[in-house]
Amino acid sequence: MLSLRAVVLSFLIYSTWCEELSFPPDFMFGAASAAYQVEGGWKAADKGESLWDALTHETPSKVFDGNTGDIACDSYNQWRRDIEMAAELGLSHYRFSLSWTRILPTGFANYISEDGKNYYNNLIDGLLARNIEPLVTIHHFDLPSIFQDMGGFTNPLIVDWFADFARVVYSLFADRVKYWISINEPLGLCDAGYNGVIAPALHSPDLAVYLCSKYVLLAHAKAWRIYDEEYKPKYHGKMTISQLALWFEPLREEDEERTALMNAFCEERFGHPIFKGNWPPDLAMLIEERSFEKGFSRSRLPSFTQQEAEYIKGTYDYYALNHYTTFLVKIAEGNESGIWPFTGAPEIGVVFRQGEGWETAAPSWFGIYPEGLRNQLNWIREKYGDVQILITENGYADDSNGLRDVERVQYIKNYLGEVLKAIKIDKINVTAYTAWTLMDNFEWLMGYKIKYGIYEVDFNSPNRTRTPRDSANYYASVIKNRSL
Ligand SMILES: *[C@@H]1O[C@H](CO)[C@@H](O)[C@H](O)[C@H]1NC(C)=O
Ligand SMILES: *[C@@H]1O[C@H](CO)[C@@H](O)[C@H](O)[C@H]1NC(C)=O
Ligand SMILES: *[C@@H]1O[C@H](CO)[C@@H](O)[C@H](O)[C@H]1NC(C)=O
Repeated sequence: MLSLRAVVLSFLIYSTWCEELSFPPDFMFGAASAAYQVEGGWKAADKGESLWDALTHETPSKVFDGNTGDIACDSYNQWRRDIEMAAELGLSHYRFSLSWTRILPTGFANYISEDGKNYYNNLIDGLLARNIEPLVTIHHFDLPSIFQDMGGFTNPLIVDWFADFARVVYSLFADRVKYWISINEPLGLCDAGYNGVIAPALHSPDLAVYLCSKYVLLAHAKAWRIYDEEYKPKYHGKMTISQLALWFEPLREEDEERTALMNAFCEERFGHPIFKGNWPPDLAMLIEERSFEKGFSRSRLPSFTQQEAEYIKGTYDYYALNHYTTFLVKIAEGNESGIWPFTGAPEIGVVFRQGEGWETAAPSWFGIYPEGLRNQLNWIREKYGDVQILITENGYADDSNGLRDVERVQYIKNYLGEVLKAIKIDKINVTAYTAWTLMDNFEWLMGYKIKYGIYEVDFNSPNRTRTPRDSANYYASVIKNRSL
C-alpha cells in the first residue's frame, strides 16, 4: 500500500511539475512577416506605388547597398511555400500584413484590385486549410506614395483614408480573419519615420513625430470602431494596435524617474490614450514644458478634444506586444547624447547603456536581456489591468549566413522561458508568442544585411529557396512538445 501511495504521489508531483513547465493547451505559437518585406511583385498586375517603392527607387543611397523590396522573398509567387513552412513548424497562427496599394492601387477605396483580392484570399484560405489562423495587420509601414506626398500620418485626412481602406479589407476578409492589428508600431511609424530611420525617412523629430502620434491614434480608433460596430457582431474577431514597446529600466536609483518618462514616451504615448484615455499626463506636461523652453507658443504634442479622447479610449480587444530588447536609462550629463530611440532621449535628457555581461545581437543597440520581457509584461498589467496579451513580434538579428544559428536558438529559448514564468508564476494572461520572422527579408533601411529569419532565404535563387535554420527546428520542437 505504502509503495502504491508513493507511486501515486510521485506521479502527481511529476505531472504538476510537467504542467508547470508546459505552455497552456490553448497557447498560440506563430511567426510573422510584413507585406513590403516579403512580397516583392512591386508592380504586379495593377499594384500602385507605396512610399517604400518610391524611397528605394528614388533615393537608393538611403538603403544598405541600394537594396529594394522589388522582389524580396517573392512571396507574391511563393506564398504556397510560406504556408508549407508555417505548417512544417506547426504554427497556430501566421501574422502577415496587407499591401495597401496591392488592394487599392490608387490608395483610395474607389477601385479594388481583383489581383490583390485574389492574392490575399489565396493566402488566407491556404492557411485555414492547414488549420493556421491568419493574424492580419492592415497597415505595416507601406503607405501609398500619394498619401505620403500629402503628409502621410501628419495629415488629419489620413484618418478617413485609412478607415476607408480598413472597411474594404473587412468587407473582403473579415468572414475568415479573427485576429486583426490596425497599424503596426506607431512608435516605429512616427518616431523612426520622422527621424530618418525608416520611410518616409524625413527629419522632423520635434514636430512631425507628435502630429503623427495624434493622427495614427485617431486612424486606429476609427478602424477599430468600424470593425466593432459593423463586423464584430457577426464574426466575433478581435482587433487592436501593435506596439513597439521598447523597454527601459533604470541604470541607477537616480535614473528611475526619467526611466518612467522613457516608458511613457515610447509606450504610454500610444497605450494611455487607448487603454485609459488621453495622453499620459506626465508626458504631456513634459513636452509642453520643453516646447515653451524652445520658444514655441504651445505644446508640440497636439491636444485631443474631449470628444477625440473619448473616441480613442477603449479601442482594443487585446494587447499586441512587439518586444525585442531592453535599454538601461541614465541621466545625460554635459553634452552626452543618445542616438536611439530618436526623439525621446534628447527630449527627456537621457542616454542608454547595456547591462554588464549582456550579449548583443547584430545592431549595436540590441542588447539581450530576456528578464526584460517578463518585467515589461508585469508593467503592462500594472498600467492597463488584466488585459489579454499576444506577443506579436520577438526575434533575434544577425548579419551572418548559415543554418547553425546557435544564438537565435538561445534567444528564443530564453525569451520564451520568461514568457512561461510570466504565465505560470505571475499569472499574466499571455496567450500567444509570434516569432519575428518566418524568413529572412527586406529589413527596411538595413536591406538584406540584417537577418531575423528562422528560415534562411537564398536571395540569389530565382525561387528564393527557403531552408529551415536550427532555430526553425528548435521552434518546431517547442511547439510540438509545448515546452522548452
Ligand atoms: C562634448 O564635450 C566634450 C568634453 O567637454 C568635448 O570634448 C566634445 O567635443 C563635446 N562634443 C560635442 C558634440 O559638443
Ligand atoms: C485570458 O483572456 C482571454 C480573453 O479575454 C480569456 O478568454 C481567458 O479566460 C483569459 N485567461 C486567463 C487565464 O485569465
Ligand atoms: C528552387 O530552385 C532550386 C534551383 O535554383 C531548386 O533546387 C529547388 O528545388 C527549387 N525549389 C522549389 C521549391 O521550387
